[in-house]
Amino acid sequence: MYLSKYEEAMLHGDYGDAIARAMQVVVKVGDVLKADRLIEIETAHIAGVSYLTIGDPGLEYLEDLAKSSARFHVFTTVNPVGIDVLNDWGIDKEFIDKQWRIINALKSMGASLWLTCTPYEYLRIRPRTYHAWAESNAIAYINAVHDAWTEKLPGPFVVLSALVGRVPRYGLYTLSGRVPTHVVRVKGGQAINNPLIAGLLGRKIAEEVGDGKPYLVAKFGGNAVIKQLLASYATYSPHAFMVIDGVTPNHKEYLAMMDKPEEINLDINDIIKDSGVEKQNFDAIFLGCPHYGIDEVMSVINYVRSKGSRRAKKPVYITTTPFVINSLSQDELNLLENSNIHLVLTTCPVVSPFLKSVGVNTVATESVKQMYYLPKMIGINYISCNGIKCLDLAFDE
Ligand code: F3S
Repeated sequence: MYLSKYEEAMLHGDYGDAIARAMQVVVKVGDVLKADRLIEIETAHIAGVSYLTIGDPGLEYLEDLAKSSARFHVFTTVNPVGIDVLNDWGIDKEFIDKQWRIINALKSMGASLWLTCTPYEYLRIRPRTYHAWAESNAIAYINAVHDAWTEKLPGPFVVLSALVGRVPRYGLYTLSGRVPTHVVRVKGGQAINNPLIAGLLGRKIAEEVGDGKPYLVAKFGGNAVIKQLLASYATYSPHAFMVIDGVTPNHKEYLAMMDKPEEINLDINDIIKDSGVEKQNFDAIFLGCPHYGIDEVMSVINYVRSKGSRRAKKPVYITTTPFVINSLSQDELNLLENSNIHLVLTTCPVVSPFLKSVGVNTVATESVKQMYYLPKMIGINYISCNGIKCLDLAFDE
């Protein structure tokens, strides 16, 4: 693989042992993937840093790395962790302390502690720039919505890429690796507005296309549904890559590059028919996978106002970011809290004990990604519900 003089110097230890070791891994992986060279990245997004998933070995590895002089070479953000940094939600103190040690290790290496899976909502991401990201919904989102280029990278590899500011050039980092293989047309009427249906559509597309790459022709009613589509698709797809007609910058170029693509026709009415919302019992409603942005939280606030500011009969937990909290007025925060709707920051139910520690064993959720992970990762059951109508289950029962 071709290396520049600077990359050779990093590899040979001119910038310290930790950088040399990181470079050795990045180059080795590049050799295995038959990359011709490394490319410089603009940002990195680290995932897989909850104490629940990496435990003591992961904590010790990050603390050792932080003790070296190694610092992140590019702007680096971090995915949700196992705790809400402002509220303990009854989580065990030892768990919280160890999670803070992980956070502090990342901070001392220069990470920006946004602790969200939607960093794309707070970054200006330019098309055709390179990134090293490790959160599947975010990877799918910046590829599809910004035509910004990242592979679906494992969390530990992103830590090393962030230290050297480079990734091997392969797969989705090349134009030829991004050519769609299937045209997926979704028929059956108007724009898709329902987050649950968008999530089920994402899963269906991944199942139909397998390890191909879809060029999707469908209409969506806004960013919230596109987030659900891509989060679910990325959960089931090995690539987390699709082009969306009329949404992805340069989509016409991708369309023109396709060579005899396979055609798949889906009818949205079949997906709606299969979406049957169950009437089973549940302990709480969970929203915010991927993390809710300000528009989604405002739609919840407007819903509550439309109900005359009544109190929900079951608690509602919404995961979001400190950016959202800072955008809300004290009146809006009080309205949510008084309505039994709780904003949970910097974490995610599948990498945190918080739902169990507030006594929740079954949630109602719109998120197809949560439906995949909740039972497997933390033994929480779910029933599905439809977007903002999920709240009807708590307000109208
Ligand atoms: Fe985010 Fe967790 Fe969902 S990291 S995308 S809230 S599974």
